[in-house]
Amino acid sequence: MVMKIDFKDRKGNNYEIGGSVGEGGACHVKLAVRDDGEELAIKYLKNKNLKNKIWEKGLKEEYNISQIFSKVGKFPSHIIHIYDFLNLGDRNGLLMPYMRRGNLNEKMKESEEYRLSDKKKIAKQITLGIMPLHNNSIVHRDIKPANILFDEKDDIKITDFGLAHNPSFFEWVFKLPAKELFKKIVSKKPKKTLGGTITYMSPQALSGRQPDKKDDVYSTSVLFYELFTGKKLFNIYYNRNSPASEQKSYRRELEKRIENEGINNEEKNNLKKAGLESNTFNCLIAGMRYRKKDRPDMRDLCRVL
Ligand SMILES: Nc1ncnc2c1ncn2[C@@H]1O[C@H](COP(=O)(O)OP(=O)(O)O)[C@@H](O)[C@H]1O
Ligand SMILES: [Mg+2]
Repeated sequence: MVMKIDFKDRKGNNYEIGGSVGEGGACHVKLAVRDDGEELAIKYLKNKNLKNKIWEKGLKEEYNISQIFSKVGKFPSHIIHIYDFLNLGDRNGLLMPYMRRGNLNEKMKESEEYRLSDKKKIAKQITLGIMPLHNNSIVHRDIKPANILFDEKDDIKITDFGLAHNPSFFEWVFKLPAKELFKKIVSKKPKKTLGGTITYMSPQALSGRQPDKKDDVYSTSVLFYELFTGKKLFNIYYNRNSPASEQKSYRRELEKRIENEGINNEEKNNLKKAGLESNTFNCLIAGMRYRKKDRPDMRDLCRVL
């Protein structure tokens, strides 16, 4: 069977698949137009990811996580609501609202003139989105700008729960036992096989330790650094195709961070210039600290925004 160009949801509504609205490492996301004209989005695995069951498992987990919240009254305002897990013929798909204003990566590129109050609103909503996950013992594990979406009112929803609850994922992507990964990154001879967008991952997540809420706190703080300063904390987009020279500079940056136990003075100054109040500034700095126990909780981050 091949992928259907149109499909039905569980209630019997018909949909037609339209143009692309985005893609990640794992999936395509397309417009899905319901027969009454309503526009939704459908996410499904790319061809190259159909062979390995781990991707399929990730997709099902995303639906399962959404189901946890569907069963307990009001669905959290800042988490994407996945309505349905559907058979599209040769693969499954996730049906969800179409987020018209794109993701935070695109937003940060196009809107340099963002006011501090707008940035704070985005940051606050991100923490409000992650808190219900943490309250349910779910670690997102992939908090980054591409996984923060904007609706037509410019309110945010957290998406892409493919890595939460999927601990063997990194081992498969990196083609290394997870505990070896961090050692390889900081080793003198980086291997070309390292992969993934790892610039937002905490040192503990990179080293393959048990997922922890404090990993999300780190990623969120790194993301907030970028949001408030307009600068990336790690300048390198690092993936399995990066040239060896970039891998080397990435490794050096990471080593420096570990030595400094957090961000350096220049980076602190960049953040100071953003004009944040001192308790917000201090909490963000603490969020990027190397040791998990020195980092605040998501609730603390939320409170200072
Ligand atoms: N519901 C949606 N509405 C609009 N765009 C979306 C939606 N879901 C995802 N996207 C876009 O597609 C990209 C990839 O989606 P994502 O769920 O992160 O897939 P992957 O698991 O492959 O990373 C996102 O970064 C975003 O730009
Ligand atoms: Mg994604």
